[in-house]
Amino acid sequence: MPGNVFQKDSKIRSIFKDERFLYPEFVPERLPYRDAEIDSLVYALKPVSEGKKPQNVFLSGRPGTGKTVTAKFVLKELEEYSDRAKFLFINCFRLNTRHAVLTEISNFLGVPISRRGTSSDEALDHVLQAFKKISFTPIIVFDELDQLFLEGEASALFYDLLRIFEFSRARFGIVMISNNEGILLQFDSRVRSSLTPETINFLPYSPRQLKEILKERAQFAFFPDSLEEDSINVAAAHASKLGGDCRIAIECLLKAGRLAEKQNAEKLSVSHLKEVFSGIEDRAKQKAGPFLTEHEKLILELVPKKGAIASGGLYKKFSSASRNPVSQRRFREFVSKLEEKNLLECAFTEKGVKGRTRMIALKSRP
Ligand SMILES: Nc1ncnc2c1ncn2[C@@H]1O[C@H](COP(=O)(O)OP(=O)(O)O)[C@@H](O)[C@H]1O
Ligand SMILES: [Mg+2]
Repeated sequence: MPGNVFQKDSKIRSIFKDERFLYPEFVPERLPYRDAEIDSLVYALKPVSEGKKPQNVFLSGRPGTGKTVTAKFVLKELEEYSDRAKFLFINCFRLNTRHAVLTEISNFLGVPISRRGTSSDEALDHVLQAFKKISFTPIIVFDELDQLFLEGEASALFYDLLRIFEFSRARFGIVMISNNEGILLQFDSRVRSSLTPETINFLPYSPRQLKEILKERAQFAFFPDSLEEDSINVAAAHASKLGGDCRIAIECLLKAGRLAEKQNAEKLSVSHLKEVFSGIEDRAKQKAGPFLTEHEKLILELVPKKGAIASGGLYKKFSSASRNPVSQRRFREFVSKLEEKNLLECAFTEKGVKGRTRMIALKSRP
């Protein structure tokens, strides 16, 4: 009798002890080389534990420098340390309108409302009322803050939040995170002057630092002796070449480990790593992926992996490939959106016989 198909797969794994330690959302218990950043964040938020108002904070730096994980780490610790603190983590890729964010805050504060049945102003009322009743100090984290500006509602939303400060004298903290260090300048000047955040800059990891971080994460994820001698170095070097992005380094190990297990290999080797390098998607694309529309996804697929394509040519390809084509004007809007999301790069050629042509390419590094 043939065995169960799942049983066939349940042979003893020899590589991963627990691959979850390499998942992007995993928050490790230690963050090497981020002591100074952690200290600054702790200093800014500490007043919460004494019932006082925390300092607003802005974390900025290139992708993969540990901004998100540091914020989550410190806020978890703060929640453990003090009953007074509770944090709400908002990924602005997912929630990028005033309405969506206010609804989320209201739900977080214990006043459940649905997004459909409530207008933004009603949601704000609920939030104001809720603030009067709560016995804790909320800290609201806006990760990927730049995404809030795409819908043009960032300033309106922050006016609302500042109103809460002014009218109900409610205490709460705001933590903003972005790869774009100039993003705060896009707020109206009144919002800017009321926010007065403390900025914490995250610098890219050096190759040596990446190596140490990887070693530590690998200890939890892999069985001893399941990594070929040089693999950590090679993964770290690859990530360094791509700007010191720690996410890339960790993802390489995860994917190479899975490949090694699939091939029944005894160890994760450098050749497994090299095989997965090309498949590691660009940071920006990976983050935006789940939030893209069908049209946007199709456009990204049609842009060549190398070099650029003229806008007109891309539109033709798009029209024949799309199940519901759109006007050229609408198409140009999609392209502009993708440019704002850091996924495409557009440039105009010099003026030729037919005028200037817009050339479109995948953005290789955000
Ligand atoms: N100092 C560190 N120690 C361990 N893991 C880290 C460290 N810095 C970053 N990471 C890991 O690298 C990945 C990228 O970090 P992340 O915080 O998402 O970067 P950012 O938000 O700056 O783009 C995550 O998987 C995170 O856990
Ligand atoms: Mg992040």
